[in-house]
Amino acid sequence: MTDTKHLDLTRFLELCSTADVAPGEATRVARGDRTLAVFNIDEQFYVTDDLCTHGPGSLSEGYIEGDVVECDFHNGAFNIRTGEVVAPPCMIPLKTYLVHTADGKVYIDPEQPACPSALTCPKAVANG
Ligand code: FES
Repeated sequence: MTDTKHLDLTRFLELCSTADVAPGEATRVARGDRTLAVFNIDEQFYVTDDLCTHGPGSLSEGYIEGDVVECDFHNGAFNIRTGEVVAPPCMIPLKTYLVHTADGKVYIDPEQPACPSALTCPKAVANG
């Protein structure tokens, strides 16, 4: 559970309910001009841009294996937690977002990249 006293929650966007994304799966969410992929890996939620950095693939429709998503268009792959490229032809990392879950909802800070732990993330603490 994230320590919310260190987070500026006014910047967070609500994306979906945690129940909307089963473990090992992803769902696509559109908010404003962003189309995002919300992933559930072992009950931890991660959010990335939905559009593959290589082309028109939708990563929420990709194949998930552990913390890697494989694009179903040309089989490039990304680490869901970090956005790093895992397999070509992708060359550009995927944009990730700082995620906060509370009261059964998934939120992101659209201005902050994902952190391994929001509790210890210096960016999140700096905004408290
Ligand atoms: Fe995703 Fe090419 S569009 S690997």
